[in-house]
Amino acid sequence: MKPAVEAIIEQSVISVAPMEGLTTFPMRLWLSIVSQPQSMTTPFLRVTRAFPEREIPSTFAPELYQLRDVLPYTITPQFISGDPEQFLRAADMLPPSIAPILEINCGCPSPNSLGRLAGSGMLHDAESYGRTIERLSAHLGPGRLAVKMRLGIDSPEEFPVLLAAIASLPLARLTIHGRTRADGYRGHARWPLIQRGAEDAQAPVIASGDVLGIESIKTLFREAPSLKGAMIGRGVLRNPWVFTEIRRGHPTEMSLLTFVNALLCYVLIQELWHSHPQKLITRISSGRIGNPCGTDYGAWEKLTVELTAIVFGVPFVLNHGFGLPSDAVSPVAFGRLKILWAYLRSGLPESFAKASIVRSKSLGQFFERLLEAGRELEKPTLPITHQAEWDSLFAGARG
Ligand SMILES: Cc1cc2nc3c(=O)[nH]c(=O)nc-3n(C[C@H](O)[C@H](O)[C@H](O)COP(=O)(O)O)c2cc1C
Repeated sequence: MKPAVEAIIEQSVISVAPMEGLTTFPMRLWLSIVSQPQSMTTPFLRVTRAFPEREIPSTFAPELYQLRDVLPYTITPQFISGDPEQFLRAADMLPPSIAPILEINCGCPSPNSLGRLAGSGMLHDAESYGRTIERLSAHLGPGRLAVKMRLGIDSPEEFPVLLAAIASLPLARLTIHGRTRADGYRGHARWPLIQRGAEDAQAPVIASGDVLGIESIKTLFREAPSLKGAMIGRGVLRNPWVFTEIRRGHPTEMSLLTFVNALLCYVLIQELWHSHPQKLITRISSGRIGNPCGTDYGAWEKLTVELTAIVFGVPFVLNHGFGLPSDAVSPVAFGRLKILWAYLRSGLPESFAKASIVRSKSLGQFFERLLEAGRELEKPTLPITHQAEWDSLFAGARG
């Protein structure tokens, strides 16, 4: 009997996709607290002749160094380079004891990458792509190199030849983003081609593109049953509780104050990472920050108290009567919150779509307006679930 799709999903690795500028360490930490994904990949580190000089900066992935085995997810470092020599030079700075798997980015669509034959630029010629990946894989040894690729540069018709060039290699995993470079991030990822990759490649294949929640992941695994996992990219920003949704099999709901304090924790983690990274690392190492909170108000309250005490010197939680000072955090941390919000609001009820929230000039104003929007909710709980019809309005679909 064919296993039910739910059982296949349970046995698969559902992870956070790398997103440059977004899934840096503070976001990864917060996502782990929010909904405990099993595994994540760093955004790419651009490797050149001059960088990194002697060692990988520890801020790139503290999970590999000071926070080794402290947080409940595995982390795969990703590099991008148009020069295989430089990739290997940097790879030697991360021995297998530190990074059992190392990923090469063969998908970045930026003109800068393309021009340097890095990222999706590596896909310009299937033969040289195959040769380069084979060489890197041989140097690192079987089961160590992971590859993340797009379907091609201009057309998905390039994919079968690109796939054939690396299909027999003993890679740790092959992640296929079901779009071409020309697609950017628009249009629907071509899951049937990813299934073809999963049938032909020797390595476990992971799908990337358009996984947004329990319903889309079920459809993906029905259409591509040979997959060993899936990565969620923009979907984790639209609904950071998406891993809870997938585990439970239905969308999540929480109280407004749970949600608001979870967001406050996000901005405070960003603030701490920006201004006192060592303080944050010490608190994580001692187990005071990093425990799962999910949709549990009590757990978020405890974390909010811990973080406000460090950042403001006064422990408190946000509620309907409590305001924040207008210059509460640095513009960097506030900016990070606004970027997250641009995606997140597309997963919320309509009262949160107000432009006034986006236009808030300070953290205090932002949370005041958020609480105000929350008063318009019909039910005492706040549902968070992906709403496809809103993606074109916000949530980064245009990019
Ligand atoms: C802002 C942004 C930055 C990204 N940065 C990276 C990156 O550093 N490395 C990478 O392999 N993919 C990167 N991607 C691609 C994602 O990992 C993922 O493959 C893509 O967004 C498709 O998945 P989605 O439809 O779930 O978002 C990025 C995507 C976005 C939107």
